[in-house]
Amino acid sequence: MTNIISKSSYLFIILIILTGCKGNDGSPDDYKNPKLNVPERVENLLSQMTLREKVGQMTQVERGEIQITTIKDNVLGSILNGGGSSPGDSPEDWADMYDQFQEQAMATRLGIPIIYGTDAVHGHNNVKGATIFPHNIGLGCTRNPELIQQINEITALEVAATGIDWTFAPAIPVVRDERWGRTYESFGETPELAALLGEAAIQGLQFSNGEKIAACAKHFIGDGGTNGGHDQGNTILSESELREIHLPGYKAAVDQGVYTVMASYSSWNGTKVHGSDYLLTTVLKDELGFDGFVISDWAAVDQLPGNYSDQVEKAINAGVDMVMVPYDYQKFISTLLELIDDEKISIERIDDAVSRILTVKFKLGLFEEPFTNRDLLPEIGKASHREVARNAVRESLVLLKNDSSVLPISKSSSRIMISGKNADNLGYQMGGWSIYWQGGSGDITEGTSILEGIREVFTKDVDYNINGNGASGADVAVAVIGETPYAEGAGDKTDLSLSSTDINLVKSLKSQGVPVVVVLISGRPLILDPILDDADAIIAAWLPGTEGIGVADVLFGDYNPTGKLSVSWPRSNAQIPINVGDANYDPLYEYGYGLSY
Ligand code: BGC
Ligand code: BGC
Repeated sequence: MTNIISKSSYLFIILIILTGCKGNDGSPDDYKNPKLNVPERVENLLSQMTLREKVGQMTQVERGEIQITTIKDNVLGSILNGGGSSPGDSPEDWADMYDQFQEQAMATRLGIPIIYGTDAVHGHNNVKGATIFPHNIGLGCTRNPELIQQINEITALEVAATGIDWTFAPAIPVVRDERWGRTYESFGETPELAALLGEAAIQGLQFSNGEKIAACAKHFIGDGGTNGGHDQGNTILSESELREIHLPGYKAAVDQGVYTVMASYSSWNGTKVHGSDYLLTTVLKDELGFDGFVISDWAAVDQLPGNYSDQVEKAINAGVDMVMVPYDYQKFISTLLELIDDEKISIERIDDAVSRILTVKFKLGLFEEPFTNRDLLPEIGKASHREVARNAVRESLVLLKNDSSVLPISKSSSRIMISGKNADNLGYQMGGWSIYWQGGSGDITEGTSILEGIREVFTKDVDYNINGNGASGADVAVAVIGETPYAEGAGDKTDLSLSSTDINLVKSLKSQGVPVVVVLISGRPLILDPILDDADAIIAAWLPGTEGIGVADVLFGDYNPTGKLSVSWPRSNAQIPINVGDANYDPLYEYGYGLSY
């Protein structure tokens, strides 16, 4: 009896000792347990990580750099593809790439999954066959947050179908000068639109009932306010103006729970945002309470003053948590390790950055489901998604002019003439960030050009002549004119005039004695003065994406236009910049303008 008691108390003591040993840190595998809460899992994992592993988590590398063991050998935390950087032509190629990368990550000592980021800025736009929606400038004209949410739910689904976890979207710049090449990435010129529609996009990407991916509000802060509209330029504003115009979008995004924020290449009053601990830490993290992670922009750290070591020190101490290196990751990793060793960057700062990154990975469920769910592949570009995109096109169009009700075009017209270089060019109507970084020309993916859309909606014969020859005698002539694709700084322009080809086309149609309808494809307002008298009707169609048929729906009256301008329309180049609320505000068409039939 005594023997038995002493034996059981002995076991009991052993048990106590074992439990005690586990302490508060739990077992080494606790971070893999989805039943524990996220902070507990983060703490457990972080406590087991070496400094080298932590620095790996803060490193983001371009997919083209990745060989068969690169992620495993360098314990990298994140991969991205730059605009147009693609593993192949099919969605399966993307899923295969993703899974191969993820297998490497899962084979590391702690098996921390990578988070893979892409610029799905108007649909999963790097992937052939995906649904491509109108760019933000057009979506701003819909004033419809439910639609923006729905678009982003679809985008999340199509992105997730290729395995990918994260989009560098929504862009929420408040564009204040349309000479800026990224104007079309903006929902419009007011902070209200950035807040309302940015929030809706984040809701759709991160919190829908379906597939969820991480969103990224970008580019913090002031990217749309640079002097002269220079991309990556300098935003010269008092602090109260900066807060009034450029902060509300981020406040809404943070309140909505956005997982990541990208810092802006641009400067505020001469100081690069990437080096500003006031903006990134004091304002964004402390004041707004952002608890996700800050990603740098593409090689933006390299633009800070000093040598590479100075640059990395400055950015990380300012509050950048993950660096889009994107190429020389070995240099980044060794530089960061050296800075920690020299106590120029504290271990607390590193732990904070890594905790933020791991938190997002846990919230996304990456530890539970690291690989692609291939059952989702048929979602890419499917008909019901294109239907939503078609509706988004209809709602984004703004009817600027409609003299003697030339629109809508009657379906009983006997002959119509379609013309213009943008009429039958899918690449042009999608703009930049469409299959290629700078966009492209022609049938670079699946979709319906505006001409093809017109042919579907207007079932009789359609005459098409790019130069508008032979319009005479037609009931109406449509000229689809405007910009050709560009992205980022390549789109900066000082002159927003129409090309002489476009102007001559409109004049030639008019001289043939037919009513002329102008459909303008552009990422921003262009100067209409030279064609204003010749065009009987004008529609701003922005950059509608793959579903050109939505333009036809409006032209033929199947949809009565509802779009309202997201930006003020200048009369002349000299009038730019022009924004609602300016003193002596006298645009050609004011912010919020838009006719219906
Ligand atoms: C752009 C970002 C983009 C990143 C990754 C940068 O050049 O400014 O908007 O997310 O590249 O492609
Ligand atoms: C990449 C883009 C990136 C840009 C920055 C390009 O090569 O594809 O994603 O934004 O470089 O300059």
